[in-house]
Amino acid sequence: MENESTLSRRSLLCGLAVLTLGLLPDTAIAAGNVKVLSNGKVEVLISRNTALRKVGGVVQFQDGNGRSLALVRTSNAVNGFKALNLSCTHEGVTVGLSGGKWVCPEHRAEFALDGKVQAKPAKRDLGTVAIKATRTKVTVG
Ligand code: FES
Repeated sequence: MENESTLSRRSLLCGLAVLTLGLLPDTAIAAGNVKVLSNGKVEVLISRNTALRKVGGVVQFQDGNGRSLALVRTSNAVNGFKALNLSCTHEGVTVGLSGGKWVCPEHRAEFALDGKVQAKPAKRDLGTVAIKATRTKVTVG
């Protein structure tokens, strides 16, 4: 019992230290309750993906073709979303969210949260996917 308490306290302190130092990479939240429709489009419910309620919120998911996509809240408007294809425009490796931007693990190209290229070797912005948004859901594709 004493060991559990010590471990728990130690784990908490280590966790706080890591958070304080900002060493944990930020990651997009995996989208919840994503539905791939028969036409291949993906339906993302805002009620099940609370990150999308705030500007700058991001959720990540795969579409029916296995593409890694992200949905980014870009404004408070009903259609204030941008769907990004997370395939790096340099050589196609899937980028990941780190420090508030998309970073390619292969050659370190960087993209802003909205997909605009910021650092080479990529020269083009991340691809976008069409969206249709209502107050309750965003359909991607
Ligand atoms: S594949 Fe992404 S920078 Fe090269």
